Parts: sequence; structure tokens; C-alpha cells
Amino acid sequence: MEKFTIDTGAEQVLQNWQGPVEHVWQRYQEQEPQCGFGSLGLCCRHCGQGPCRINPFGKPDKGICGADGNIMVARNLLRQVTAGAAAHVDHAYETLEVLEKALSEEGPYKITDAEKLKGLAHKLGIAVEGKDIKDIGKELVAKAREDFQRFGSGELNWLVAHAPKERVAKWRELGVIPRNADREIREALHQTTMGMDASWPNLLLATVKLGLVDGYAGLKLGTDLQDILFGTPQPVFSEANLGVLTEENVNIVMHGHIPLLSEKIVEWARKLTPEAQKAGAKSIQVSGICCTANEILMRHGIPLATNFLAQELAIATGLTDAMIVDVQCIMPSLASLARCYHTVLITTNPIVKMDGATHLEWSYQQADEMARKAVELAIAAYSKRDPAKINATREKTTLMVGFSVETIISILSKIDAQEPLKPLVQEISNGDIQGVVATVGCNNVKITHDYLHVNLVKELISKDVLVVTTGCSANALAKAGLLNSEATEKWAGPGLKKILSLLGQVAGLDKPLPPVWHMGSCVDNSRIGDVLTALAEYLGVTVQQLPVAASAPEHQHEKALAIGTWAVAMGCLVHLGVMPPILGGQEVTAFLTSGAEEVLGGKFFVESDPVKAATVIYEHIQAKRKGLGL
Ligand code: SF4
Ligand code: FE2
Repeated sequence: MEKFTIDTGAEQVLQNWQGPVEHVWQRYQEQEPQCGFGSLGLCCRHCGQGPCRINPFGKPDKGICGADGNIMVARNLLRQVTAGAAAHVDHAYETLEVLEKALSEEGPYKITDAEKLKGLAHKLGIAVEGKDIKDIGKELVAKAREDFQRFGSGELNWLVAHAPKERVAKWRELGVIPRNADREIREALHQTTMGMDASWPNLLLATVKLGLVDGYAGLKLGTDLQDILFGTPQPVFSEANLGVLTEENVNIVMHGHIPLLSEKIVEWARKLTPEAQKAGAKSIQVSGICCTANEILMRHGIPLATNFLAQELAIATGLTDAMIVDVQCIMPSLASLARCYHTVLITTNPIVKMDGATHLEWSYQQADEMARKAVELAIAAYSKRDPAKINATREKTTLMVGFSVETIISILSKIDAQEPLKPLVQEISNGDIQGVVATVGCNNVKITHDYLHVNLVKELISKDVLVVTTGCSANALAKAGLLNSEATEKWAGPGLKKILSLLGQVAGLDKPLPPVWHMGSCVDNSRIGDVLTALAEYLGVTVQQLPVAASAPEHQHEKALAIGTWAVAMGCLVHLGVMPPILGGQEVTAFLTSGAEEVLGGKFFVESDPVKAATVIYEHIQAKRKGLGL
């Protein structure tokens, strides 16, 4: 790797890295060369006879139990996708518990978007006419509970209500519709333990099922309940990159995924601003990393500090007074790094603790109390900053975000109030928009930080492809200046520029809309699923027939594999920039990258060069356009 990062803010902070602890790129170098068996998916320690490893070029060609490469790879992949789905399901479940309490008792949380709740209830077959909103909410909670722990057989309510009808029929035919999330997660762990499934096709079907658990009981359910509690995002302007951390403010950096806590921190940072001023600061600046950042960015315009791979650099600016973490994507290295600075690292979830961090546990009843304490700790830390350790950058960009489905429909309906999707479809038909691509997912240290996200997207928008984005991909594109009107002027192709200018005008902006629409956090990939479902149903075609694709250019997390599996099951071509550990199973690899298309409509392809990846995606879009007669 020639460069660690293309992010100018990260690069500046990295140049003056003060140690003594290592950063993520140094730890990666220490790991090289990485284990070849692991990279191919050819190691197993599912039982006490192992660990076993398979030689792809000779003997041993089986584990002690007789498992061959395809079985080993398929079992490992199913476990990874299951873990990814479990993370999203657990996130959605925590949100459900809060919604349930908010409906039945006075407390720190309340319903913000009652309309969304009613619309959702209607879709789930709950009668809403003349009923009290709390009663509707309770019925909705019961439906959601069934999707986590339904007794006996059945199908996910959220999937049946929201997936394209054609897909539901297909998944039924394949026998992959989940009964309930907990049951499928349990079964997948059972299915992959020693002496169980030895059929790689059967293991891959189970993987698809867990991808659907992720898509509907994790992502879709999570987004829906979060919108009900905290509001559905609307257009909002903000800033991104480490330059949002400045010397005059108390800086609180939120990191993780669930907005239950970050919403409260935003609220308490406002309330306690006078305390910060008493301590000599101008104000309190809350900013974020990863998806909890995306949640508060989308709903409140809270600026984005950075994304996954540069999380350590937020502390290394010497300006982060408190970093408050909830769940997922939190590097264990943060604890030892924070010790080198004045930063208080605050863990808040019973399943995420770190030696040396301050643990302030979030709970429903204590949410306000806990958030107040966390903000007070940040204010107290502000006065302990060490001027010798300040390593700031002024790098930051401007952005327009908040592209929920509701936002998109509301902008389009200013052109056609009766059929809001019609103008979008017309632009796709006449070729001003060639297609739509979603870029999602993480950073991965194996790829120059943000490089593939940014360069892939620049290629696509120059070819008149509209890009929608979530997660750390959105953060990468934000820092590269791709989420503002100037980016449309600078990088969009002529057709895309024309339609974005028109949409900007009808949205009352006086400038074009950005060429990349930020749709939210990783669970908000469900919003992209909703757009695909709506487009396919409006046109009376399948998702597979649409000129669309998805990409996780720098994925690292098991959650990304789960999301990608769901997208393939929806019928999408899914690009990955990093090879998952599957190459040791030749038949498994052939299925995932080719055969899956016939069975599911979608497939994966792996390419780490942005121009080559954009070419494959563009050719795929052209083939789909041709299929639709465009
Ligand atoms: Fe080896 Fe089979 Fe045990 Fe895995 S399950 S460690 S391949 S004997
Ligand atoms: Fe995320």
C-alpha cells in the first residue's frame, strides 16, 4: 500500500502521530504476511480435534472430521453472516424495548413520528382508523416481537409486508424465509457446529436465510422503529472531517451505532453549554464517528468527525475531551490510546467494556442522568488538555444530507404530486440518469483509507449514475466533498447535472442537489431496499431487471457480509473491494460469483481497482437498460 489514506484531515493528524502506542496501519504491517489458510477460509476450530487447515494445493485436503474446502468455507461464511445479522437484530431489539416502554410509561423517550407509526401499522395489517396512537403502537410492538421470538412456524412480518411480492414468492420456493430472528440465529449456530451440515449448497441457502434475517428483522425493523422514536430524516446541512474538532470548544465524539444514547447526548450537550462556557470553552461541539454519527447527522445536522479507520485519529488530535461509545466497530485500541491523552473514553453498553475506560451504563430510566454525567465528564476533561499534544487539522467539507425515502418522495412530488416516482423513472428512461448505485459499508485497512469509496463514486457519477450511500461509505464521500452542490458542478455527468439542478430548484435550494444522496446509517440500508422495492413495483418489474447495483468497496465487518447477502437475495449485483475468505471453496466461490444469479437474481463480484469496478458496474447497468428496452 503506497499511502495509508487519501483523507487530507486524517493524513495531517497521522503525520504528527505522537505514539507511544501504534495506530491501526502499523498494527496491520506487524500482521503481514497474513495467514494464507485463513485468507482462503480454509481453517476450522469448530471442535477440539482441531484446529484443522486444508492445503489448497495438495494434502491435507480435508479436516480431521472429513470436511473439505467447500464445507469449511460455507460453514465459516454462514457463521460470519449470522454474527452480522445478530448485531443488527440486537440493535433493532434494543430499539423495540425502548419503543415499548415509551408507549406505556412516562420516561425519557417519546414518539416523534406518529405518521410513520400509522403508515407502518397499516402496512402490517393493523387497523388504525379511530384508534389511539399508543394502542396502535402497542399492536405494532407485538408484531415486531413476533419477528424476534415467534413461537413455532411462520414468516417474518416485516419481510412479508415490505419485500417485493415476487421476491417473497421466490424465497418461499427456496425455503429461505426466516421464521423469527432468534430461531434462525440459533439454528445457524447449531447447523455449523461439529458433525452437522456437510452440504455446501444447504449451508449457502441457510446463509441466504440469515441475510434475510438481517435485511428485515435487523435493518428494516431497526430503521422503522428509530424513525418512529426520533423522527424521519429531512434535508439538513452540516460539515465533515477532523477539522470539526476545534480548540475553543469542548469536544464530545460519539462513536458506535445506536441512536438511543447519542440522541440524549445531543440534548444534554445543549442543556449544559453554559457549564462549558463557565469552564472557558466557547460551546460544546458534539460530532460523530461511524453510524451513531450518521444517525445524529441525518436527524440534527451534527457534524461528522471521521469514519471507521480513522477513529484513533480523533483522539490523536488532542482535542477530543470525551469519546462516548455504544456498540460495534469500536477498536479495542482506543483505551490505550486515550490513556496517552486527556480524553475520557466512556463505554455505555454492558457488552462493550474496556480496561481503562470509564463505564457509564445507559439504561432506559437513567438515560438522562447518564447523558448528563457523560457531558459533565467531557467538560471536566476540557481543562486537562495538554497543549503540547494538540495535533489539529482545519480540514472539513460541507454537506447536504437527510435523504430518507420520505425526503426523496417529497422532492419528487414537487414535480409530480400524483406519481412522485414518475419523474425519476422518466429520467432513467431518457438516459439522463443511467442507473442507481448504492455504496455502503466500512473501511478496511487492506485498502488505502477511503480510496475505493471515493474513486469508484467519482467514476460512476461522471457516467450519469446517481449514487445513494450509507454508513462509513457515506462518511468517506462526505469528507471527499461529494455530498454538496459543488460536487455536482465538478464531477457529475451532463445528464445527472441537469436533473440534479432541476431537483435542487424544486427543493428551493437555488443550487443542484448533491450527486450522492446520504440515506443514513448501516441499518438504513433498508431505505435503499425500500427505494428498489418501490421502483420495481411502480414499473411492474423485478429488482433484478432494474439498472441498479450495490457496492461495499472497503468492507471489513461481518455485518457487511450479511447486508451484501440480503442485497444479492434481492436480485442485485454486489461489488466488494476486498475478497472475503471464500476462495478455498471452489464450488462455493463459483456459486457466489456466478451461479447465484440464476437462483437469486443477484451475485457478488470482487474488484479492488475503482476504474475496473466502475466499468463492470456500468456494463451491468447497460445490460439491464437493454433488457428493459431503454
Ligand atoms: Fe477439524 Fe472438523 Fe473439528 Fe473443524 S470440525 S476442527 S475440520 S475436525
Ligand atoms: Fe455502520
